Amino acid sequence: MDWGMRNRLSRMFRPSSGNSVMLAVDHGYFMGPTRRLEDAGATIRPLLPYADALALTRGVLRTSVPPEASTPIVLRVSGGATVLQEDLSNEAVTTAIADAARLNVSAVALSVFVGAPHEHQSLVNLSKLVDDGEAAGIPVLAITAVGKELEKRDARYLALACRVSAEIGAHVVKTYYCDGFSKVVEGCPVPLVVAGGPKLDSDRAALELAHGAIAEGAHGIDMGRNIWQSDHPVPMLKALRAIVHEKATVREAVDVLEGEKARPAAPDPAVSPA
Ligand code: R5P
Repeated sequence: MDWGMRNRLSRMFRPSSGNSVMLAVDHGYFMGPTRRLEDAGATIRPLLPYADALALTRGVLRTSVPPEASTPIVLRVSGGATVLQEDLSNEAVTTAIADAARLNVSAVALSVFVGAPHEHQSLVNLSKLVDDGEAAGIPVLAITAVGKELEKRDARYLALACRVSAEIGAHVVKTYYCDGFSKVVEGCPVPLVVAGGPKLDSDRAALELAHGAIAEGAHGIDMGRNIWQSDHPVPMLKALRAIVHEKATVREAVDVLEGEKARPAAPDPAVSPA
């Protein structure tokens, strides 16, 4: 692996833990103005200091993230279908690698839809993106999408989707936590990060999900709704950091969450930069 590629990866995955807390705010690319992400900049600003990477599209990056920010960017470069369609798998690459390089991103991300009508197309999209990423020194994160078919969130299906993505050349794979998750990890030769999925019933449930994933071998999380749809997004992100980087137990992470909730809220960094 060339120096540029290794450098980009080491900016996203903290060398001290080998893990990453990625903040996902790319939902609008097919869901529109998702709840609590309507004003993406306002959602992102207070969370940015606590994210190891920010996952989003170029539109939100250019309009809603200050260029002075040093947080590594994971740029979503696939799209082309919305929640109005039954089949979400009809995606293409929507952003050229040259634009990703211009935006100085640390990785590009694209969905693969194994088992969906456009499986072939999404896997070919991945293979071309890996070729472009290798040429530019930009790692590729494959997102094993389960779309509306949540029942596919089982270890056998996810292991298949993750392995196929790694075989095609993805440098990192994002998937979902599931029963038997360690089997998904064992079968995937590149680092896995887990999404959170729709908002769970409680913050604790999301901490349990992250803890289970890390304990079974994930290299981090790429989580959105369970952070910014929480009533306490910054405390949640700090509690998740304790799990991902410090191997905190769920109990310890809940203590972090409760302790942070009790602290007075920090001023919005964009309003008071000092
Ligand atoms: C889908 O919109 C994206 O792949 C999300 O980045 C991914 O699902 C992670 O976000 P969440 O934790 O909200 O599922």
